[in-house]
Amino acid sequence: MGSETGRSVLRIEHLSVTFHKKGGFRRKATLVRAVDDVSFELGESEVLSLVGESGSGKTTVAKCIMGLVAPTAGKIYYRGTDLGEIMRSNMREYRREVQVIYQDPFESLNPRLDVFTQISLPLRRLAGVSSRDQLMERVSRLLKEVGLEPEVTIDKLPHQLSGGERQRINIARALAPDPKLLIADEPITMLDASQRVNILSMLMELKKRRNLTVLMITHDLASAKVTSDRTAVMYLGRLIELGPTNSVLSQPIHPYSELVLSSTPSVEHGVVTEEGDEQREIQETPEISCNFAPRCKYAIDVCWKARPPLEQKVASRFAACYNPLNKT
Ligand SMILES: Nc1ncnc2c1ncn2[C@@H]1O[C@H](COP(=O)(O)OP(=O)(O)OP(=O)(O)O)[C@@H](O)[C@H]1O
Ligand SMILES: [Mg+2]
Repeated sequence: MGSETGRSVLRIEHLSVTFHKKGGFRRKATLVRAVDDVSFELGESEVLSLVGESGSGKTTVAKCIMGLVAPTAGKIYYRGTDLGEIMRSNMREYRREVQVIYQDPFESLNPRLDVFTQISLPLRRLAGVSSRDQLMERVSRLLKEVGLEPEVTIDKLPHQLSGGERQRINIARALAPDPKLLIADEPITMLDASQRVNILSMLMELKKRRNLTVLMITHDLASAKVTSDRTAVMYLGRLIELGPTNSVLSQPIHPYSELVLSSTPSVEHGVVTEEGDEQREIQETPEISCNFAPRCKYAIDVCWKARPPLEQKVASRFAACYNPLNKT
């Protein structure tokens, strides 16, 4: 399951995360397998999309990479070094190199701090910049880089900015320590349709200019299509398909990918819309069967008797399915 673009930046091996979910009145606590045996790799300068509907475990994977959630099992390697070891010895450097942009531009900014202070914080803490002049110069440069006018923006508080501007501030803040790996967790979901394409194309320009490696988390394939080299699809904590974005989107191997594609919003006319993106009730299935079997119109006998492993089906393409589509 090697990366397509050379040296490995991030390698995730058999990652699992189980949460205890408290039951309601007189109900037992249940175990939620938020992430279930997930493995993938990100190559230098690669953009990999992690796609899946709400609750499929995408953010939990991101939190594990950021060291905010401890895996129940499995390993994460950053440039060949185990994250556990990095956390013990070199977390500051890792925080500098690996940055995240969150979904909610309102929640992720401190409402009481002006733009200058928000962006100065990582510059002070992680990049070691301390003089006010230098900070001013760096913050102004970052604001320009994300398409904002420093003179107009630098003294504003978050509530004085639009959603799109706020997300640009988040991106500037993430870029402040000159990261190498950027994790974008649904960076456009909370924005107006008119802002979505602008922010996505800006992210892609930044990726090119700064030679970033990007993990693009999204619940829609339209964003994956316009941004990523490869796409990984998750369903109920499992990675069920992984391959070059163009092939996954034009000829999905896993029936779930086909289903997501059939309800994928369009990127027509330069606007990413949410049309047809319905939320479905998803239920856990018994451990032994494929967890997509209850929704799968192609399910055969074996799908109810065993859980399919992620295997190579065609060159560079992997799927976890006993009755795959488009095998040739
Ligand atoms: N701290 C937690 N405690 C208990 N359960 C959790 C916790 N965090 C996540 N979960 C559960 O783990 C599963 C995966 O959640 P996660 O947030 O990773 O999904 P997601 O794919 O990012 O969804 P979304 O698209 O809505 O952001 C969900 O069932 C969620 O309820
Ligand atoms: Mg999420």
